[in-house]
Amino acid sequence: MSNLFSMRDLSTKEIHEILHTAESFAKGEIWTPAKQTFAVNLFFEPSTRTKTSFEMAERKLGMEVIPFETGTSSILKGETLEDTLKTLESMGVDLAVIRHKQDAYYESLAGKFQMKIVNGGDGCGQHPTQSLLDLLTIKQEFGKFEGLKVTIVGDLSHSRVARSNTEALTALGSEVFYSGPPEWFEGDPENAQNYVDIDEAIGFSDVLMLLRIQHERHNTMMDLTVEQYHERYGLTPEREKRMKPESIIMHPGPVNRGVEIAGSLVESCKSRIFKQMENGVYARMAVIKHILEK
Ligand code: CP
Repeated sequence: MSNLFSMRDLSTKEIHEILHTAESFAKGEIWTPAKQTFAVNLFFEPSTRTKTSFEMAERKLGMEVIPFETGTSSILKGETLEDTLKTLESMGVDLAVIRHKQDAYYESLAGKFQMKIVNGGDGCGQHPTQSLLDLLTIKQEFGKFEGLKVTIVGDLSHSRVARSNTEALTALGSEVFYSGPPEWFEGDPENAQNYVDIDEAIGFSDVLMLLRIQHERHNTMMDLTVEQYHERYGLTPEREKRMKPESIIMHPGPVNRGVEIAGSLVESCKSRIFKQMENGVYARMAVIKHILEK
């Protein structure tokens, strides 16, 4: 892979290779690029986990991280993303990580740069490195993907995490189910048979993957109060007790405690939420290594 825009860019063989490399980094393997290598992280939407873990990954790999703040860049003077990237490339930047609110912003960039580009999340489109860190977490837990039942719960229609994970998990042999307000599921009839009530999902799921309500992408206010949403669609302590003994809780973050998940469950025995964040560094180190070696 010369860029990573979408999980569709990766074959299952490449996914397994990246996960293997990420596991090696988790065990302490050290790898650095053969020459001095410069990275820049361009985040046009807010981020804590993705931006910080990419920077951690780049620094752990011995790369030079060039600070770039979108709020003080010449993008504000009308410069396009493409011209901004051409500028950075001409100065010698080797790797750009981009988060952008526009779905599939990367399509207009493909084939135009020697510099490597990694998508750090595009609108409601894709979040490939989140998917890879989620896969790493699932692999560490179960040692396989085949036959696992993964239910993604919440704001499905706005979720790039749901989209990337659906593609990857299905390709790897897991069965993906969906739960949450039905109006956030409509429009995806291909998977209609896999839409289930949360009370059904908790009984059979190996992985319960909860999603934040992305109010910033909604045009209308939700009819339900936070409390009503939590009772109807959220993971409550009572529901958690009915989950399968070996099952786990995942969430890409940021978490809204008391909405999609009870606050007391974020650090519970079944929760792998902070493990996912740790794994984000290893998964991103692995992606960067694979991309730079091409
Ligand atoms: N999971 C995730 O993408 O979190 P951030 O928005 O904080 O990067």
